[in-house]
Amino acid sequence: MEDLRLDSLPGVGPVTTKKLSDAGIHNIMDLIVRGPVELSEISGMDKDTSANIVEKARQALVEGGLLAKDFVSATEIYKRRQEIGKITTGTECLDLLLDGGLETQGLTEIYGEFGSGKTQFCHTMCVTVQKPKEEGGLEGTVLYIDTENTFRPERIVSIAKAHGMDPEKTLDRIIVARAYNSAHQTLILEEASQMIRENNVKLLVVDSAVGLFRSEYLGRGTLSVRQQRLNKFVHLLVRIAETYNCAALATNQVMASPDVFFGDPTRPIGGNVVAHTSTYRIYLKKSGKKRIARMVDSPHHPEQEVIFGLGEAGVIDPDSETKKKTTKATKSKAEPEVKAEPETDSVDADAKIEDIPEDSE
Ligand code: GTP
Ligand code: MG
Repeated sequence: MEDLRLDSLPGVGPVTTKKLSDAGIHNIMDLIVRGPVELSEISGMDKDTSANIVEKARQALVEGGLLAKDFVSATEIYKRRQEIGKITTGTECLDLLLDGGLETQGLTEIYGEFGSGKTQFCHTMCVTVQKPKEEGGLEGTVLYIDTENTFRPERIVSIAKAHGMDPEKTLDRIIVARAYNSAHQTLILEEASQMIRENNVKLLVVDSAVGLFRSEYLGRGTLSVRQQRLNKFVHLLVRIAETYNCAALATNQVMASPDVFFGDPTRPIGGNVVAHTSTYRIYLKKSGKKRIARMVDSPHHPEQEVIFGLGEAGVIDPDSETKKKTTKATKSKAEPEVKAEPETDSVDADAKIEDIPEDSE
């Protein structure tokens, strides 16, 4: 069980192992991450055989204690949730919004218009995740999937300096993968499992998650294909975050019409990895030089907005004392388990992956 070798599964011999590794599946965890349908597509095995192998992998992982059982007690879910790590944003205001920081075992989507600070937020998290635990980090490394060529090591250097960290060491712990098209973007993620495990990756950034899909699939006729592929990518992201207890952070630009790519965050996302899936969406808005971040329909964060700024140190606290817009912060921090009602006047809160509107570009 230690090394999750494929040939430790009953009935999986050298021939199957070869077939699987040719298809990019190198260990038992990969089988679970891909699932039976995809396994059959990529390996050429028939559906029954694929389902059978994935089921064996699932059983082995359950026995090894690496995967939640089908029926679990609330205590066990609670225990698994205790393992969720939080990564500080380096600011009081955004940590407040996130109830401590960016969570592992989940996907957080940052969406907003150009210049709203999505990329700056990602850069900042690349630095803070490396901090020691007592300073709010996870002492982890980063995998940064850059689809827009906007990753800037210079920004990492200045953010690291502002946080009193060694810039060179900080850069060393960020692995950047430049994705050239949406298929490549997906492939990078599919091949990432081993790298994530071996390098103690605690933060997985995709900036932007949607851009390439959007530019490649234009027009109404291609919308459903785009959705399908994008769904696959997003689900893979969630499964990796759950499996490896790392935080996934994806950005999404919105223009005139919102283009948010996943739906109900309380719905368990297809797959048999863990029972609980947490998925958050944060909407960023420009407001002069300041920025506003709003938590949108999280299962256990109060719906509220905070004001933050952008600077040398990445995302920063606003210099004024108006850290929190009191008008919106109706829920108190004392009852964080209550799901806030989505605001009906919101332009973005109700968009789902199922109903991405036609693009204006
Ligand atoms: P798109 O990717 O175009 O959708 O935008 P984005 O949301 O990723 O915006 P990004 O994070 O790139 O934010 C750009 C803004 O960050 C700029 O308008 C600047 O105000 C600010 N910014 C970027 N770098 C610095 C910096 O070094 N110092 C300061 N003070 N601000 C910066
Ligand atoms: Mg950007």
